[in-house]
Formats: sequence, structure tokens, C-alpha cells
Amino acid sequence: MSKKLTISSIKQAKGVKSLVMITAYDALFSQLVSESADMILVGDSLNMSFAGKSDTISATLDQMIYHTNAVCLGAPNNFVICDMPFGTYINKDRALDNAIKVFQQTKADCVKIEGGQDKADVIAHLTANGIAVCGHIGLLPQSVRSEGGYKVKGKTEEQRASIIADAKAVEKAGAFCMVIEGTKADVAKEVAEAVSIPVIGIGAGADVDGQVLVFSDMLGLFEAFTPKFVKKYLDGATLVKNAVKEYADEVATKAFPAEEHTY
Ligand code: KIV
Repeated sequence: MSKKLTISSIKQAKGVKSLVMITAYDALFSQLVSESADMILVGDSLNMSFAGKSDTISATLDQMIYHTNAVCLGAPNNFVICDMPFGTYINKDRALDNAIKVFQQTKADCVKIEGGQDKADVIAHLTANGIAVCGHIGLLPQSVRSEGGYKVKGKTEEQRASIIADAKAVEKAGAFCMVIEGTKADVAKEVAEAVSIPVIGIGAGADVDGQVLVFSDMLGLFEAFTPKFVKKYLDGATLVKNAVKEYADEVATKAFPAEEHTY
């Protein structure tokens, strides 16, 4: 079993190895991904792929704490990131109270916060108080309603400059790494070059310091929609449906349980 990464080994990985981040929401899947993942993200995307909601907005801190505990139990030797849900870090005091709750009630190694220059004071306050922070810039899923959808970032010169300023602000505030989501690849590349901490991409091209995918997307389990940036490494939904159909057929015909499944 490989050694658990630390904040400093993650920072040192920049330029040396491409970091592998994947989401998980429970002990079962965190154990399954633990061997190959450098970092496991308990993303608020669980509100969609686990809880069935249409966006991440209604995820709660208690929900995140519950799932983070399960993930940490399944993958005790992995670096675990707990996503701070919408509304839990609207100012630095609220953010610190909520992040302390995450740290006291789970074994998460850090929290993740969406935002750039506008969240620099929050990130600085958390890091000054012993809470490690992973930033999240570019497309911010928690802004989906205020922005009227998921819009790819970095298409204009103004956006490019703003994203690079966001990355610099997040680094200056003390974050040890950041996610960049849904951003033009050339801009994401510039971001990765502009900061000295790892920049982990999702829908941001290959020229960054690592990649993150939502496990249910990359395993082909989430069928509602598939963003362009997702590669399905497994047709999980078809495999599961076929297996359940086979089980149902065998229950109907009484082929299951067979002799070897019977006491
Ligand atoms: O919630 C999540 O899973 C995330 C990833 C999309 C980076 O924030």
C-alpha cells in the first residue's frame, strides 16, 4: 500500500508527476478507488449523482460530513478533500466555524472552496487557522443558478485575465492546490504556469498538474447527461442493469438460489 500523500508531498508533485484525483461518496467506492487515487474528493456533486438532485446547491454541511466519514473509513490511507457546500463559506467567520466542524467531525485532510479573488480572504482565514484549503476556479458549479447554466470559462480576454488573477489570489491566500473546471485548455495551461501549487483540471485540458473526474461519470454509472470532458472507462450502467436483469430472471425461474447458495 502506498504512503498517504501530505500537503507538502502534493505541492512537491508539481512538475514531477501528474496527480490523480477522483470523487467518492461512500466507503465502498473509496476503497475501490483508493489504490490508484492520490486524492479522493468528497465533492458536493454527490447531491446530483448520489442524491438525485439537479444541481449541487442544496447539499448541506451535515451531508458532506456524513459522506466524508464514510469515505475516510473506506480509504484510511488516502488524502481526502471535503467540499464545502453552497452557503457555508459566505464570509470568513462562517467559513471557519463550518470548516472547524468538518475537521472535528471527520478525518478530512482539507476542505475545498469555490471562488478566486472574491474568496481570498476566506481562504487566508482558514489557512491561518490550521485548515488546509484546495481552491476551485474557472467554472463554479455552485454558481449555476446565478449564471443561468454551466458556461465554459476563458473564452474572452477579460475572462482569461480574471481566471489567472483568481489563481494567483488563491495561491497567495495560502491554498496548497486548486481545481480548475470547465476552462479553455490554453487558459488552464497559463494558470498552471502562473502558480507554484498544483492545478488539477476537470474539463480544462491536459496541460495542468493533474486531473479529477467524478467517479460515477468515469465509470459510466451516471446516465442523466455526459459532459464533453468525461471519458467513460467502463460502461457501468449497462453492466449493472444486465447483472440485475440476470438476477431478476433467475429469481423468476427459480434458477437462483442454487444448491451452492443454500444452507
Ligand atoms: O463536486 C465535485 O465533484 C467537484 C468536482 C467536479 C471537481 O467539485
